[in-house]
Amino acid sequence: MSDTLLIAPPDPQTDREAIFELTAKTFAGEGLGYWGWIDHCRAGYIDHSPYDWSASSIGRLGGRLLTHWGVWGYRMRIGSATIRVAGIGAVATHARYRSRGFMARTAQTGLRRIRGRGYDMSILFGRPDFYERFGYVRAWSEQTHIVKVSDLPDKPPAARPRKFALRHRDDLAKLYNRAHARLTGTAVRPTYSRCRYHDHWDGYLWTDADGRATGYIIVAEFQGRFEMIDCVGDDEQVLRVIARQAGRRGYDTVHFPSLHHEHPLARRLRWGDSRVETRHRHSGGAMVRTVNLPATLKRLAPELSRRLKRSPLRNWQGTVRVANARETSDLAIDRGRVRLADPAGRTGHAIRGGDEIAQLLIGTATPPEIVEQAGTRITGDARRLLPTLFPAQHPLLGEWDHF
Ligand SMILES: CC(C)(COP(=O)(O)OP(=O)(O)OC[C@H]1O[C@@H](n2cnc3c(N)ncnc32)[C@H](O)[C@@H]1OP(=O)(O)O)[C@@H](O)C(=O)NCCC(=O)NCCS
Repeated sequence: MSDTLLIAPPDPQTDREAIFELTAKTFAGEGLGYWGWIDHCRAGYIDHSPYDWSASSIGRLGGRLLTHWGVWGYRMRIGSATIRVAGIGAVATHARYRSRGFMARTAQTGLRRIRGRGYDMSILFGRPDFYERFGYVRAWSEQTHIVKVSDLPDKPPAARPRKFALRHRDDLAKLYNRAHARLTGTAVRPTYSRCRYHDHWDGYLWTDADGRATGYIIVAEFQGRFEMIDCVGDDEQVLRVIARQAGRRGYDTVHFPSLHHEHPLARRLRWGDSRVETRHRHSGGAMVRTVNLPATLKRLAPELSRRLKRSPLRNWQGTVRVANARETSDLAIDRGRVRLADPAGRTGHAIRGGDEIAQLLIGTATPPEIVEQAGTRITGDARRLLPTLFPAQHPLLGEWDHF
């Protein structure tokens, strides 16, 4: 058998079952078991999902499927802008063919394909010390808000919540998108059309007098904890419904593992009695990579203009060069108006770095932290502009949209 791995996008008809099998063998040990994993793929993880067949990559040797680099496509918010993200998942090499560089080759081809398919950045939830070699760096740290039920409102919900079937609904997606506008890292829904955890999560929604949904919560019991997975609606009502559900199920604490730091509910919890647990991982948590730097900056330009216009630097004029190891872009700035320009000539104002440029773009941390840790080279007025252009954003992707 030739040792040449043939890498191509999978065919949705002929490769689907083989992908389910290879990934089931690989991930069976992670709780679902072999058949459970296959059901999971059918229930909504791959079927009925934003899995992008044309942007994913598989490797074959002698006709046999040996590697899988899956792409789930979605639009991610960075402030008021949205970019196209390739979420990478179900990354697997057949157990008998590991440590031969097969994934290295699949991933490299896969990253080129992602760019060719028009993606701006890529996010994945990684395995420690593996994805750096492909240019991925920490995207954000996991943050969980933890509240005692006794510190939640004890009044009954104003509108009566009722259980609803967990699948995509346009009305709920609209409510979600409105409530998460400008929250960096969140996905623009729809993403999944079915809920792949419908056996494990419960949803409750409430309506106005005309029967229109005005809010909902999705909760789960996981490893002995009561978790709030997703919610939309009036804060007071949301907390009353959560408190009631927690009480009924005998829990005295509620965990909020995917509540965005800047969400009004998170602010309210932090203003009251609560705990916030942050888990920092140098590698292996949420990771990010720039796929197309000029395209990302072009989409970000209106948001960068918005940030500049509200700052003391609103009258600044000039060109700021942004470069990582692969690409260089110029931002032409004219009194609060930012636009992407072709890199030309010299400019004394530059942000030159490596993979951490992706962290600046999504606001993983404050610019001084990122620059200090990564050794980014900043010249001229870029030093003054940096905190305004790329502030910390506390990015986070909601649990419903994970891949
Ligand atoms: C992670 C995984 C996809 C890697 O696949 P792989 O095909 O073995 O990857 P590669 O061969 O490209 O690289 C793996 C290791 O082999 C080494 N390697 C690469 N080419 C090699 C070669 N020709 N000879 C020997 N070793 C080689 C790499 O340096 C790497 O070493 P390190 O990670 O210890 O530094 C595979 O181990 C797997 O399926 N694991 C289980 C599922 C999993 O964890 N997926 C990731 C979920 S986020």
